[in-house]
Amino acid sequence: MAHDTIVVLDFGSQYAQLIARRLREQQVYSELVPWDATAEDVLAGRAVKGFVLSGGPASVYERGAPGLPAYVLQSGLPVLGICYGMQLLAQALGGRVAPAAAREYGPAAVALAEDPSPLLRGMQAARAGSDPADDGTLPVWMSHGDRIEALPPGWRALAHSANSPYAAMGDPAGGRYGLQFHPEVTHTPQGAALLRAFAVDVCGAMADWTPANFIAESVAAIRAQVGGGHVICGLSGGVDSSVVAALVHRAIGDQLTCLFVDHGLLRQGEAVQVVETFQRTMAMRLVAVNAAEAFLADLTGVTDPERKRKLIGNRFVRVFEEEAARIAAGWRVAEKIPINNTIPTETINGTREVGFLAQGTLYPDVIESASGGRERAARTIKTHHNVGGLPADMTLQLIEPLRLLFKDEVRAVGEALGLPAEVVWRHPFPGPGLAIRVLGEVTWERLEVLRRADAILLEELGEAGLYRETAQVFAVLLPVKSVGVMGDNRTYADVVALRAVTTDDFMTADWARLPYDLLARVSNRIVNEVTGVNRVVYDITSKPPGTIEWE
Ligand code: XMP
Repeated sequence: MAHDTIVVLDFGSQYAQLIARRLREQQVYSELVPWDATAEDVLAGRAVKGFVLSGGPASVYERGAPGLPAYVLQSGLPVLGICYGMQLLAQALGGRVAPAAAREYGPAAVALAEDPSPLLRGMQAARAGSDPADDGTLPVWMSHGDRIEALPPGWRALAHSANSPYAAMGDPAGGRYGLQFHPEVTHTPQGAALLRAFAVDVCGAMADWTPANFIAESVAAIRAQVGGGHVICGLSGGVDSSVVAALVHRAIGDQLTCLFVDHGLLRQGEAVQVVETFQRTMAMRLVAVNAAEAFLADLTGVTDPERKRKLIGNRFVRVFEEEAARIAAGWRVAEKIPINNTIPTETINGTREVGFLAQGTLYPDVIESASGGRERAARTIKTHHNVGGLPADMTLQLIEPLRLLFKDEVRAVGEALGLPAEVVWRHPFPGPGLAIRVLGEVTWERLEVLRRADAILLEELGEAGLYRETAQVFAVLLPVKSVGVMGDNRTYADVVALRAVTTDDFMTADWARLPYDLLARVSNRIVNEVTGVNRVVYDITSKPPGTIEWE
């Protein structure tokens, strides 16, 4: 299943992941690798058709700056250097790089050379389809300190801006290009067309990265990996675990058992809703466990957020482990194999029966652990998430069918698998659930207060048609009381904060500009309908400096 691949070398730019995402949006498969990965790690097992060198914070003439790995030019494959990547190319091929008089940051207009090469023709063609600027320039986004002073021999300027004589340069015959601007950001409107031109026209890569192909290949790979074995999939109701379950189910049907742990920290009606949606739309075996009492007992008297996370994570592991063992014991009973306490077991005919655990690790987690220099094999199971980290002696093998996907691709795959919109477009919900939204000590009573307030917020958000416009919306129960007046009575009761954010990647976020009318309705309803709450506030902090969650 090796797709034609454009390898993006990560030199530390905040946009490096975006380059890979943009290429994949053009249906060309792309992977991000650390700049210092070995040639063998990068080239083995991949059908590499070209390289993109990302930007980065360093200067090429600084001591210790990341260098251009030799295999890139030795491969003879096309190369596109962006910003720092362009400067690396210039330096390696005999050009000259120097600090610019002024750092250039922000929008700029570039004028293309007469024959702008196959690379920039893509951009030009995309521009022709929209409204061309009077002077024929194209809008781009610049962000650089250094600039090219002299081209490498044999290269020519392909575009210039007011501040950069070489806003784009290249050796089209050799398939090598450099850009001073960033085609991957949305502020460069024709940037996606440029990346497509690079991948398809310059590198000759197949544009075959589609949800349908991904599903077909994953199904085949899961079948090959699992054989006649059995799989457990922890299900949270979120999009990642649901897509994993649906993929695995498509591959191996009844050999899959899904496990849903209700820790009592879910939203109002959520446990029932997850189970109901699942049974209605996915028709697969689901074991649901209510472990609320155990989780709540652990949290008694605990106010520190990290301690809450830890206790919940630990309890999750224990409950999951117990249930998984119970399910696994059932596999052996069903197959009339003597039960013992270890998995995998030797089956009667001597073949090994293996148990698998499917989970929704996504590509950003994989990239993070690869660039952290840690052994891929030693990657710890995501803490806080569906499965809090299973002990090594579980000996379940991992299946991670989404480990090459970005979140938006997971949603596209979910849609292609026919999952309902309520699952595909569900806002993310943190593993520790409402425990980190009831600030201070978590009690069942306070959870119930929060659940009622939160349900009103989500109901009104949905009524206003703004669920899809926002990335995450929830209520928080504060550990303070305030004075109010209701009817003729003075009240002294709890405060609820509303949080609504917009974001693409959850690394940064802005507070959502929810309409005042909506906020007014939510506030009125909460104070009137939720006993114990007499004040509602709206959180207008972006991230950074705030975080999305309050704890
Ligand atoms: P913050 O609060 O760090 O959140 O801005 C970023 C995203 O991560 C989610 N989040 C968590 N998810 N376990 C999770 O599974 C956690 O402990 C946790 N803390 C934050 C948060 O909801 C947001 O989507």
